[in-house]
Amino acid sequence: MKKQITVAGLAALMALSLAGCGTNNGGTTPSTSDTGATSATDTASSSGYNLQVKDLNGDGIITVGFAQVGAESGWRTANTQSYKDYFVEANGFKLVFADANQDPDKQKQDVRDLIAQGVEVIDLAPVTDSGWEPVLQEAKDAGIPVVISDRQLSVSEDLYLTYFGGNMYAEGQRVTDFLKTYMADNNITTANIVHLQGTIGSTAQIGRSQALTEAAAANGWNIVYEQTGEFTQAKGQEVMESFLQQNKDFNIIYSENDDMTYGAIAALQAAGKDPKSYVIVSFDGNKSAVQMVVDGTIKAIGQCNPLLGPQVGDLIKKSMNGEAIPKITYSQEVLIDSSNAADQLKTAFGS
Ligand code: AHR
Repeated sequence: MKKQITVAGLAALMALSLAGCGTNNGGTTPSTSDTGATSATDTASSSGYNLQVKDLNGDGIITVGFAQVGAESGWRTANTQSYKDYFVEANGFKLVFADANQDPDKQKQDVRDLIAQGVEVIDLAPVTDSGWEPVLQEAKDAGIPVVISDRQLSVSEDLYLTYFGGNMYAEGQRVTDFLKTYMADNNITTANIVHLQGTIGSTAQIGRSQALTEAAAANGWNIVYEQTGEFTQAKGQEVMESFLQQNKDFNIIYSENDDMTYGAIAALQAAGKDPKSYVIVSFDGNKSAVQMVVDGTIKAIGQCNPLLGPQVGDLIKKSMNGEAIPKITYSQEVLIDSSNAADQLKTAFGS
């Protein structure tokens, strides 16, 4: 069975998931599950993908090759640490770590190297969404199951075991819904938005940008500046500084991660502007960013959970035991705003 997931298909699927459907829609899209919420009926094995995680060398330890994006953000640091903490011998695993340094070509070579090393399962957190079919086919031909984590891929379902991570489009929709309500509550009638995008072509960027584009069209909002800050603080500051030099009107900053938000805030302060006088919204939920919501500097954050190691480990164990697993499982995530920030601060990740 070959099911090609398009970006539009992903969006529809995410909308379905948000509506609480959580399972397949008549077999035209894969099954989904929100952690702790809905259970799926359509499973990884019924998608036409027949590989199961196995202890191929019989040493009692599963070697997991982790093809990681890089080290661009606080989120990424917490995500890597979660894998390093969980995939240890005491839990029955060994981790082989490959850092792509945000380079999509290097990452494809990293996965090929993991295949050549004979790891028993690969976890791929893709830098960008394109060009993965040949590499995933090579892993499949070598009998190595691939778990996709963090960022979804628009590839055929029969090329990977399962996806676990954020629903980036739904995160974006939570933030744009917040913006709409916040503007109404505060009598803000015009939206002139600075849009700091993440790594172009990553599904984190695609989903969050798509939510903004749609909300802007539906509500008559203006996007006055749109530029990638590549999910880093330094680049976020640089693009905000270059925008400020243009002296254009703006009242909202939609920044696709906390690190770029810190950079944008530093740029505002360096230009003598008070960040609190703008509506700044962000994504992720690092501890410092959540503290800024408490302080009123950031108005809301679309939470994205980086602590994926243990849940991915559970899915791998289920596959080893021959249990059914959902094709897609979304992390449970919320919108963080002034109503819940103090509470969220108690469990926020990072620093
Ligand atoms: O894919 C998750 C995104 O990648 C996070 O929002 C960002 O901080 C990270 O770099």
